[in-house]
Amino acid sequence: MNRRHASIELKSLDEIALMREAGLVVARGLAEMQAACAPGVTTADLDAIARRVLADAGASSSFLGYHGYPAVICASVNDRVVHGIPSTADVLGTGDLISLDFGAIVEGWHGDAAITAEIGPVDPAAAALSAACRTSLWDGIAAVRSGGRLSNISHAVERSIRGSGDYGIVTGYGGHGIGSAMHMDPHILNHGKPGRGPRLEPGMAVAIEPMVTMGSPATRELTDGWTVVTVDGSLAAHWEHTVAILDDGPWVLTAPDGGVAELRARGVQPSARAA
Ligand code: MF3
Ligand code: CO
Repeated sequence: MNRRHASIELKSLDEIALMREAGLVVARGLAEMQAACAPGVTTADLDAIARRVLADAGASSSFLGYHGYPAVICASVNDRVVHGIPSTADVLGTGDLISLDFGAIVEGWHGDAAITAEIGPVDPAAAALSAACRTSLWDGIAAVRSGGRLSNISHAVERSIRGSGDYGIVTGYGGHGIGSAMHMDPHILNHGKPGRGPRLEPGMAVAIEPMVTMGSPATRELTDGWTVVTVDGSLAAHWEHTVAILDDGPWVLTAPDGGVAELRARGVQPSARAA
């Protein structure tokens, strides 16, 4: 055990099973919000859907009250990259791209995931941006290996985005360890050289979350203390999953199929528990 990295939480299989329950609540909430996304719907309406999904599941929110955060989702439209606060004043319109980020706690164990949804028909370039970001998330997940180094994930995400087009990779924010808290060690960059950082081990869980822009990757935070926007006003996309590392492969806890389809498509055998 490398003592420099001794702070990464190791979960038992029973604990990972609870994280799977939390992950399925997150997946259900994201699917319901995505289905509700339409012109005229507000981001506060989407937050209400997520609150109902939590209540129905007997789960609690990872976000509400986190450093004073006032909602259960982050809803980040167009040039808002992440951490947009839902509002009744925030009305969706045709052509919008919205990142929906949602976290749930079941018996103390967290799940965290995000999707980017399209409101009505969007500009093909906007759809391509979101697709590139989503693909980079799965390419990053496919680089998760027990015994492999953390930065192999970062490298795979960056390589994937660079291979998709001339996009900005947001560097001020990244993924994170997750388990008995939403944000834990280690921080996971969305870029970098492979072969660095701690070795991944069975029992670890990580949230991988690339953020990609159509223009400059530079971001700034609004005076609400939360909303992160692109400095140049360009569109942004954001996708995230929570992934557990088991001794027989990864298990994407926030994907309804456990990640089986996307992992197999990349030649990676998921954990038997995922299927
Ligand atoms: N879920 C976000 C992330 O992916 C963090 C949300 S911050 C909060 O890491 F305050 F909204 F909770
Ligand atoms: Co996260």
